[in-house]
Amino acid sequence: MTDETHQPEHAETTAVTAGRSYPGRSLAPPLFAASTYEMESLDAARKAAHTPRVDAFYGRYGNPTVTAFEEAVAALEGAEAAQAFASGMGAVSSVVLALCSAGDHIVAQRQLYSHSAILFQAVCPRFGIEVTLVDATDPEAMAAAVQPGRTRLVFVETPANPLFQLADLEVVGGIVGPFTVCDSTFAGPLVQRPHEHGIDIVLHSATKGLSGHNDATLGVITGERDLIEAVWGYHTVHGAVASPFDALNGLRGIRTLGVRVAHAAATAQRVAEMLADHPAVAAVHYPGHESHPQFDLAKRQMAHGGTMLSFDLAGGIEAGRRFVDACALARLATSVGGPETLIVHPATTTAAALPPEEREAQGIGDGLIRISVGLEHPDDVLADLQHAVTVAGS
Ligand SMILES: Cc1ncc(COP(=O)(O)O)c(C=O)c1O
Repeated sequence: MTDETHQPEHAETTAVTAGRSYPGRSLAPPLFAASTYEMESLDAARKAAHTPRVDAFYGRYGNPTVTAFEEAVAALEGAEAAQAFASGMGAVSSVVLALCSAGDHIVAQRQLYSHSAILFQAVCPRFGIEVTLVDATDPEAMAAAVQPGRTRLVFVETPANPLFQLADLEVVGGIVGPFTVCDSTFAGPLVQRPHEHGIDIVLHSATKGLSGHNDATLGVITGERDLIEAVWGYHTVHGAVASPFDALNGLRGIRTLGVRVAHAAATAQRVAEMLADHPAVAAVHYPGHESHPQFDLAKRQMAHGGTMLSFDLAGGIEAGRRFVDACALARLATSVGGPETLIVHPATTTAAALPPEEREAQGIGDGLIRISVGLEHPDDVLADLQHAVTVAGS
């Protein structure tokens, strides 16, 4: 093929081709369960001990199976490097504690996954790190909250869990001074590419859509090599190290990311339209639906609305209970991005750790249901949810 005819690879193809620098000709990545490796000599041991991100020295420093997973995520995000962690929260806390010290200031968005919120609101102050929480839907508020010379980190999550508010990546990526971090878990690399907007660190709970099969607990960040190495150095102390078994499952999941995301997002779009027209539903929260207050921003920075949505049942907690009980296909389980359609009642589960006034401030009502659309036939998903929402409204 000549240069003229060469087309840039699509991300769906990268999901299949990337992360293959492991030794041997196996198409599936080999599983290195090793926690330690024999060194040839003292000199070799000394060199390994001083090599950042060495993956054949000691398990807490790195692992070849984990490296393969990291290479694939870095390629998907268009980044120089990636670092995996034992969970999404392992990634969030390692980034924050690697980059911030007592006296530093963080600007974080108010609408955050509950345990990230706990880290910022309860843990950071204990270490002398001040956090200002900002409404992420106000594009200028993030930049306005930055204290030049003192703010070390600006942290956003877009779309946000569980109401799918968006942060404007172009505005956040344009903030000069602090490191900018985007938790991109609810979109994933096929839906949005935060580095292209100037974001320094892209973060995923790979437990979700990247792994995609509910069989891995995993986190990952991407960014420039130097920055990833700095976080890696702290992570060897923090110890939230990715398991090679989970990384293997994570990479296996990435191979099918393209077809899974396309299928589930098409179904999610139909579910959003059905719910928006249903009399028992007070509001639908889906970036791909025109009722979303930031629909224009979604069109600018997301390829489509994604595979998850939430909605408010007009009848509050009792309607929520009827809805959950009436679902036959959709399952009540706390996660997203797997093959099964999952539902969650945030007020009693994922957001239960938040104080009631904070839940209210964030707009997480008693009738809110979050749906992670799965890989079942779209007609079956639609029929199940439509039936359940009708029962909820009766
Ligand atoms: C947006 C977001 N970020 C981070 C996390 C934490 O990920 P993990 O459960 O893998 O620690 C979650 C978990 O639900 C999440 O939804």
